Amino acid sequence: MVAICLQGAFDLKAPKKSPIALRMVVLAVTILCGVFICSMCMKQLGSESWSRIVKIEVAAQPCNKSTVPPSEVPFVHYPQPITYNRDECMCNPVRFFTIISSQRSGSGWFETLLNSHINISSNGEIFSNKERRSNISSIVKTLDKVYNLDWNSSASKNECTAAIGFKWMLNQGLVANHAEIADYFNRRGVSAIFLFRRNLLRQLISQLANNHDRYLKQLNGTHKAHVHTRDEANILAKYKPRLNTTSLISNLKQADEYTRDALRNLKSIRHITIYYEDLISNRTRLLDVLDFLKVPRRKLVSRHVKIHTRPLSEQIENWDEVYNALNGTQYESFLNADYRI
Ligand SMILES: *[C@@H]1O[C@H](CO)[C@@H](O)[C@H](O)[C@H]1NC(C)=O
Ligand SMILES: *[C@@H]1O[C@H](CO)[C@@H](O)[C@H](O)[C@H]1NC(C)=O
Ligand SMILES: *[C@@H]1O[C@H](CO)[C@@H](O)[C@H](O)[C@H]1NC(C)=O
Ligand SMILES: *[C@@H]1O[C@H](CO)[C@@H](O)[C@H](O)[C@H]1NC(C)=O
Ligand SMILES: *[C@@H]1O[C@H](CO)[C@@H](O)[C@H](O)[C@H]1NC(C)=O
Ligand SMILES: *[C@@H]1O[C@H](CO)[C@@H](O)[C@H](O)[C@H]1NC(C)=O
Ligand SMILES: *[C@@H]1O[C@H](CO)[C@@H](O)[C@H](O)[C@H]1NC(C)=O
Ligand SMILES: *[C@@H]1O[C@H](CO)[C@@H](O)[C@H](O)[C@H]1NC(C)=O
Repeated sequence: MVAICLQGAFDLKAPKKSPIALRMVVLAVTILCGVFICSMCMKQLGSESWSRIVKIEVAAQPCNKSTVPPSEVPFVHYPQPITYNRDECMCNPVRFFTIISSQRSGSGWFETLLNSHINISSNGEIFSNKERRSNISSIVKTLDKVYNLDWNSSASKNECTAAIGFKWMLNQGLVANHAEIADYFNRRGVSAIFLFRRNLLRQLISQLANNHDRYLKQLNGTHKAHVHTRDEANILAKYKPRLNTTSLISNLKQADEYTRDALRNLKSIRHITIYYEDLISNRTRLLDVLDFLKVPRRKLVSRHVKIHTRPLSEQIENWDEVYNALNGTQYESFLNADYRI
């Protein structure tokens, strides 16, 4: 066989005048040689490694990234979910995000706004489940599933999802595993939306009212963290907590430092920082978020109704005491109206 091959190669250099038939023979021999060499290759590789090569080829990225600016490439993904097929949207780029927040910072409202966008799926507080956050391997497994578009929730959209994420509270295993999580986010090109509240006193009132309702279940025996009607909101806002002014300042300080430390530890992640107060007073801040996620600008809507709309002085039982405790301190600004509804 090798001899024939050599002969064929030799024949190629035959004079120009050789008849067509001879050329055909040379061509046939060349093809045979090719097939032979190829089959030898396959035999040597063995069927296992061969199928591995084929698989790698199939899994290789078929989508054209050339229109993506180089600085964006790490953040552009083409997931291939195993639970369904993305069909014609296979090459629609997908951005990975996480809303990083703390309880009663408006993140529930914010998430419903994002989910009203046809190309955004934010899957809620998936790490409120203790088992999923019990250790880093469990966390990574969950993250992999979400970012592979295989997490099924009421927020799941169609094949053309362009931004996939969820809501993560700092105390849901995020602070506890911050180093590994920042690594994961940087490695996999996940962006973070830091959503926090400036007025920690208002946040505290909201937390106390929410805990109160968790216990009393004021709306026909069900606890609701978020409401959809003004009537429900008014019922929940009736509760006026009494604050312990002895521990108030240290509580505020603790909450403030907890968040600051967390953000310092997560700052290597690509991120945008949004404050709840800014969103309330200026909805165009939302467009900044859409631009950050690289999804088309659209009007976003939410059915959530704000619970506490009255001035703080009407929402705290011992307002005078609280005022005196904070007046003249670094938290004095929390006493003032910082937004108008
Ligand atoms: C990728 O897209 C660019 C611009 O649309 C085009 O010039 C290029 O030929 C495409 N490459 C492939 C491999 O399809
Ligand atoms: C958004 O979703 C629509 C409808 O599914 C789709 O036609 C469009 O291509 C998507 N946009 C992006 C940027 O993926
Ligand atoms: C991590 O947590 C999961 C779920 O709680 C558990 O099944 C698994 O054994 C844990 N893994 C390690 C390494 O601790
Ligand atoms: C997601 O869940 C819904 C209902 O829970 C179900 O109808 C749907 O088929 C599921 N989708 C996938 C892809 O598993
Ligand atoms: C729940 O309570 C409200 C008044 O608090 C009432 O108007 C409504 O009909 C009740 N709904 C149900 C399902 O019981
Ligand atoms: C207020 O907080 C202080 C310090 O934590 C505590 O010693 C005190 O018992 C608290 N007072 C009330 C009424 O809970
Ligand atoms: C509202 O937010 C946008 C985008 O962040 C900003 O450009 C604009 O100046 C803000 N407007 C006001 C009145 O603060
Ligand atoms: C707040 O403190 C300032 C001095 O720091 C004092 O002049 C002012 O009267 C205080 N306000 C109230 C309402 O007590």
